[in-house]
Amino acid sequence: MTRKVTIRDLAEAAGVSVTTVSQILNGKGERFSLDTRRRVHQLQEEMGYVPDFNARNLIMKSAQTIGVLVPNLGNPFFSMFIRGVQETSRERHFIPLIFGANHDEKLESYYLEELIKRAVDGLIIASASITAEAIDNILKKNGIPYLLIDQNGGPSVDRVQINDEQGGQLAADHLLALGHEKIAVVMPDDPTQNLQIRLAGFKHRLAEHHVDLPENAIVHSAMTKLGGYQATAAVLAQHPTAVFAINDETALGLMRGLHEQGLSVPNDISVLGYDDIDLDEYVVPKLTTIHQPVVTMGQQATGLLINRIKDQRQAAQLVDLPVDLRERESTAHLK
Ligand code: RIB
Repeated sequence: MTRKVTIRDLAEAAGVSVTTVSQILNGKGERFSLDTRRRVHQLQEEMGYVPDFNARNLIMKSAQTIGVLVPNLGNPFFSMFIRGVQETSRERHFIPLIFGANHDEKLESYYLEELIKRAVDGLIIASASITAEAIDNILKKNGIPYLLIDQNGGPSVDRVQINDEQGGQLAADHLLALGHEKIAVVMPDDPTQNLQIRLAGFKHRLAEHHVDLPENAIVHSAMTKLGGYQATAAVLAQHPTAVFAINDETALGLMRGLHEQGLSVPNDISVLGYDDIDLDEYVVPKLTTIHQPVVTMGQQATGLLINRIKDQRQAAQLVDLPVDLRERESTAHLK
């Protein structure tokens, strides 16, 4: 097996020093003759020299790498988030290392520690179970810049936040405008901070219109298609005319369950989701939902984190992103 061509091989072939080659290849060679620069680039091509990024890291003390931890890669919400992360990472010449921990706290801690061992420059953590002590013990003690999305564990220095209270209010306004007052909600046990705010916005708006949401009208399930499907019987036991599912995956699973019970959405029961994932347009009926600008969220989170990596002393950065209602076919006026 031939060994990898090194910068030393290239320098010897070109008859110049390693420093000269490094400066020319890093675009800082204007002080060398055109002939020297041309010879170095031509030999790089002929010898197939590719800079060793690990060696460069040692000099630059930066891997230009960020770790991204999300709960569930199978949820289109997070794959759209990652699309935004990748777009901004590429623009800023960083590489994202992406992991989905499926709400498994042990797996999450494993990935967190492995990412830190690999000297990532910063972390974006959009995970449900990250704890304040993990943040303090692993991240703060290691001086690793990080940005939390949707999470518990206290405010990270920089924040990209979606106006979830407004989202909950928009959901309530929509169902109230359709005449619904007997409403069920489906959401996970132990919800993250943003989901709690979302539900609070929903409940408070109902209360402003003297509509009650009793505790037993809140059905708990995993925030997945299967979770929504498995919640069907508990939802129907409340005899609601409308259901607010805390995210689209839950809504889609619930719609499948309602269909299997012979119920028509929205003629027998309205279903409202939250996220606006791409699947919403391809199910029958199309899902009415609250739109989250999730690609922008990924872009902004990455931008703020890279800013922090480049200057850890800068003032806290805050980005607020709006939500809006996307009315489709799964909600209708109370018969
Ligand atoms: O669908 C995933 C959910 O987890 C989204 O609503 C997002 O806000 C996160 O909390």
